[in-house]
Amino acid sequence: MSDRAKTNNPQEAINSESTRWADKRDPRIGEYTAGEIQDGIPFVGAGPGDPGLLTVTGRELIEAADLVVHAGSLVNSELLDAYCADAERVNSVGKDLEELVPLMAEAHEGGRAVVRLHSGDPAIYGAALEQMDALEHEGVPTYLVPGVTSAFAASATLRTQLTLNGVANHVAFTRPQGKTLDPDEDHIGEFVEMGDVTTCLYLGTHAVAATMDRLLEAGHDPETSVAVVYHASWPDEDVLTGTIATIGEQLEEAGYRASAMVVIGDAARKVGYERSYLYGDWANRGGESTEGEADD
Ligand SMILES: C[S@@+](CC[C@H](N)C(=O)[O-])C[C@H]1O[C@@H](n2cnc3c(N)ncnc32)[C@H](O)[C@@H]1O
Repeated sequence: MSDRAKTNNPQEAINSESTRWADKRDPRIGEYTAGEIQDGIPFVGAGPGDPGLLTVTGRELIEAADLVVHAGSLVNSELLDAYCADAERVNSVGKDLEELVPLMAEAHEGGRAVVRLHSGDPAIYGAALEQMDALEHEGVPTYLVPGVTSAFAASATLRTQLTLNGVANHVAFTRPQGKTLDPDEDHIGEFVEMGDVTTCLYLGTHAVAATMDRLLEAGHDPETSVAVVYHASWPDEDVLTGTIATIGEQLEEAGYRASAMVVIGDAARKVGYERSYLYGDWANRGGESTEGEADD
């Protein structure tokens, strides 16, 4: 173990970085646009799995990398084989910050091009910021390169939109209660109750039956649509469609315990929507409108 690994203290680094930005803005905000290649270690979103769903910038960075630290089985090995066959690859699963931070910092300081590759988009359930803060604290600059989050891959698989006029005006990216979330922090029931929200459950494949039971016990409509997309965009992608009342059993039968996106709400079935204002009244008035309406 290196001297740095022995002395590094990621928690102290995280606390210190949070304090640093408490009352001032990171000067790099506004200096760079998202997608611009910068100095330091990029935290790249690999997308949901299909190598074709990696961004052009992500691919460019991975192709030039000497060391790629990736999120294990959530990143398709086909993507690694295709774009960084010659780089050193390290699976981050099972490694703590105390191991990951010196590994990346030392490689960067030794002049190697390092890429941290997260599944989907690093900004969603990626635990990227704590790694970035710990690295920044060590004097290693970092930045984010977005990716396609799995909810978006799932909506493409389902051939629908997550927002759908007259059906879903909002989207919730959420996760069920468990080790990380206490029961009172689990808001799935509240999102479903709102009625016009498409609720996308990450990290909940193993807990679908229990989650649906809780929704039923709380009196939610058992006929509410639910779709489960396993391994969206992978060659073994699979789709189960059902309702709050049926999907738990369907999933148990299929045997999936991880790597699925659960989409709750009628947008999943692409039914009952109304045509939009954008290609209706607004267009017929010559498109003269406020910016907000034009974005509909
Ligand atoms: C640790 S989170 C990472 C999410 C990732 N940052 C993203 O933006 O998709 C892992 C969860 O994302 C979902 N997930 C990731 N890849 C998926 C895929 N290809 N298909 C369906 N769900 C996926 C699953 O719910 C899985 O439990």
